[in-house]
Amino acid sequence: MSAAAAAKKKRGAGSSEFAEAERAAKFIFSKTKLRPKIALVLGSGLGGFADELTEATRIPYEKIPGFAKSTAVGHAGRLVIGKAEGVVVAAMQGRVHYYEGYSAKEVTFPMRAFGRMGIKSAILANAAGGINTGYKQGALVLLRDHINLMGVNPLIGANDERFGPRFPDMSKAYSAPYRAIAGEEARQLKMEIQEGVYAALSGPNYETPAEIRYLRTIGADLVGMSTVPEVIVARHMGIEVLGISCVTNMAAGILDQTINHEEVMETGARVRTQFVALLRAVIPRMAGGKN
Ligand code: HPA
Repeated sequence: MSAAAAAKKKRGAGSSEFAEAERAAKFIFSKTKLRPKIALVLGSGLGGFADELTEATRIPYEKIPGFAKSTAVGHAGRLVIGKAEGVVVAAMQGRVHYYEGYSAKEVTFPMRAFGRMGIKSAILANAAGGINTGYKQGALVLLRDHINLMGVNPLIGANDERFGPRFPDMSKAYSAPYRAIAGEEARQLKMEIQEGVYAALSGPNYETPAEIRYLRTIGADLVGMSTVPEVIVARHMGIEVLGISCVTNMAAGILDQTINHEEVMETGARVRTQFVALLRAVIPRMAGGKN
C-alpha cells in the first residue's frame, strides 16, 4: 500500500474531513492539558525550535488520527505541544509535502486539526531558494504574498462551510500586523530581515535556470515546494499567518553551482540560533501576552 493510501485508510474512509479534524483535535487534547494559541510548521532544517519548548508533549505523526507520516530527510515528523516564553504553541517538527505523494488535502490536514483546536494564529517556516539577488544565503525573509504554481489546491472538492467559504479571499494571505511585529523584533535583535513573494512549485526536482528567470519575471523573490497549501487552508478557516523563509541557497542559475539537499539542511542548521531567537521574540507579541 502506498503511504498516501495508508494515511487515507488510517483517516477512515467515508467520514468527513471536518469530523476527522475534530477527531485529531480531540486526540491531541487527550495527550496534554496545554491548549495552544499558535501553530508552528517548521520545515527543512528548522525543526530545532521545537526541541526547546518547555513542559513539552511530543506526539509522532503516525499516532495522530489522519496525520500523514513525513518521509523527507530533515523532517522529524512529530507534533510538539509546549511553551515558548510562556506561550503555549503546537509545533510541527517537520511537515509532509505534496511531492512525497500525499494529496493536497493530506498535506493540509494538520492545519485543519489546528483549526478545530481553536488556534487562530500560525507561523509557517520553510527553506527556500533565493530568486531575488538582493538576498544572501542564510537570510530570513518574511513572506508578503505567494504565487501558487503547485498545480493543486487543497480546497478542490465539496466545500464544508463549517471550515470556511467556497471562495475564500486571499488578498491578505500573510498578516501585515504579524509581519510588522516580526520586522520590529528582527531589528531589535540586530538581524537583517527582508520581505518577499514566495512561489510554490510541486518539486521534487529543483528548478531549471529558465524556470527561475520566469519566476523572477512574474514577481517571485523565493521558490520552494511547501507552505502554500497550508496557508490556503489556514486562510480558509480565518487563521492569521506569519510566513518565514530561510534562504538556504540561491536559486538555480544565479551562482555557478548546483543545488543539493545537504546544502539546504546545512544552511538551515546554521541559521538555527537566529531563527529561534526571532521566534521567541515574535511569539509572545503574536499571542498578545502569555497564556
Ligand atoms: N528550490 C525549491 N525549493 C527549495 C530550494 C530551491 O532552490 N531551496 C530550498 N527549497
